Amino acid sequence: MDKNLTMDKLVNLCKSRGFVFQGSEIYGGFANTWDFGPVGVELKNNIKKAWWKRFVQEDPQTFGVDAAILMNPRVWEASGHVQSFSDPQLDCKSCKYRFRADNLIEEKFKDVDVEVMTTEEMQNFIEEHKVKCPHCGNFNWTPVRQFKLMFETSRGTVEGEKDVVYLRPETCQGEYVNFLNVQRTMRAKVPFAIAQIGKSFRNEITPGNFLFRTVEFEQMELQKFCHPKDSMDFYNDYKKRAMDFVCDLGLEKENLRFHDHEKLAHYAKAACDIQYNFPIGWQELNGIHHRGDWDLSRHSEFSGKNMEYLDPFTNEKFLPNVIEYSIGADRLTLAIMSEAYEEEKLENGETRVVMHFKPFLAPFKVAVLPLQKNLSEKAKEVYAVLSKEFMCDYDEAGSIGKRYRRQDEIGTPFCVTIDFDTLEDDTVTVRDRDTMAQERLKIDTIVSYFEKKIKF
Ligand code: GAP
Repeated sequence: MDKNLTMDKLVNLCKSRGFVFQGSEIYGGFANTWDFGPVGVELKNNIKKAWWKRFVQEDPQTFGVDAAILMNPRVWEASGHVQSFSDPQLDCKSCKYRFRADNLIEEKFKDVDVEVMTTEEMQNFIEEHKVKCPHCGNFNWTPVRQFKLMFETSRGTVEGEKDVVYLRPETCQGEYVNFLNVQRTMRAKVPFAIAQIGKSFRNEITPGNFLFRTVEFEQMELQKFCHPKDSMDFYNDYKKRAMDFVCDLGLEKENLRFHDHEKLAHYAKAACDIQYNFPIGWQELNGIHHRGDWDLSRHSEFSGKNMEYLDPFTNEKFLPNVIEYSIGADRLTLAIMSEAYEEEKLENGETRVVMHFKPFLAPFKVAVLPLQKNLSEKAKEVYAVLSKEFMCDYDEAGSIGKRYRRQDEIGTPFCVTIDFDTLEDDTVTVRDRDTMAQERLKIDTIVSYFEKKIKF
């Protein structure tokens, strides 16, 4: 990651280069919603594809699902969300700004462990230490209250007879409720896992920092169902697999660390995050949680369906434990963009901005650039061949230098330039984004040349 990178620089690059736009921008925006543009959607899709390949495609014991966002409201009673999915919130009565009480304490008192504090203890702490509003500097707080994080909507057409339903705040419940379906239809033997990628929604008290914390986001979640005696091994295995994955995507080891949770949910045996050193500092990137048999036991109880597993080899009947691995696709996209960004000083004194994405993650793999407009016919032929295999960009406007810079800024690993020699000998110039080195290749060799360089 470039030490000059700030969140503002990244937001500006994202906006000007088509990665991410403000949600509903022409209406003045809609706070903490973001729209992925033509470049960003490719990057995020590639990240999701890489996750699916690593954790579903390459693992015969993992099965994918795509569950409904709206679920029977009983699901959220069973999961405990209706009762306790909330954060401690307080408002400044002077400037009306809203804060999370735990964040407020944490930011001023680095040694205080807010994770173990109750709502009342936070309230007392803020009063005793006269913690002031970071926005207006006054000490004029409402009491600390628990703020519900689930978005509610309603189903039904007759006024007054609507049922409350929730937008799911996590995708994993769709995996738990399909445990029996997947086990039966795929003839799966425990240990096995269910994975999915999908949207989640949270009415966050303090969303912000661009894609880091939003009210609508995508999660990539995997639940490993296993025998309790094997559960700690799988927990450690997923810690390693999660770390390997983000390193393989290009995040530097020095910007990653494990953070073991001290305060655990009553049912959990262990939990940790992988933290990344974002432009805003060290923050959670993903979670790995040992959830015991909480999820299946609760869904058994609330649905009345027995979710025990009968081991066909030992005849033992047991409720599997769950090891959960969960990572936000948007948050990971933010980390990948932060890591890739570089302001590179060139020998001629100029600076170029380059996004050093691994080629398999790059939004466009190849840009096809005719040196002059009258070469566009041949260039379009080359584009037609390459675009059957890879996501490609085509650009014939402006000087070749400017076009290279634009591709550097969106992280295109290879540029193919068509010139007058191309018409004579069917060769093109291939320019490498990182080294800026150029080589001359025959058109009929470039597909296999790029395939080798792009593979994940
Ligand atoms: N099912 C477990 C679960 O949802 P979590 O720690 O609340 O656990 C998992 O969320 C991951 O989802 C986080 O590590 C983060 O990557 C992502 N995430 C959570 N809330 C988010 C938000 N408001 N905006 C963007 N990403 C979020």
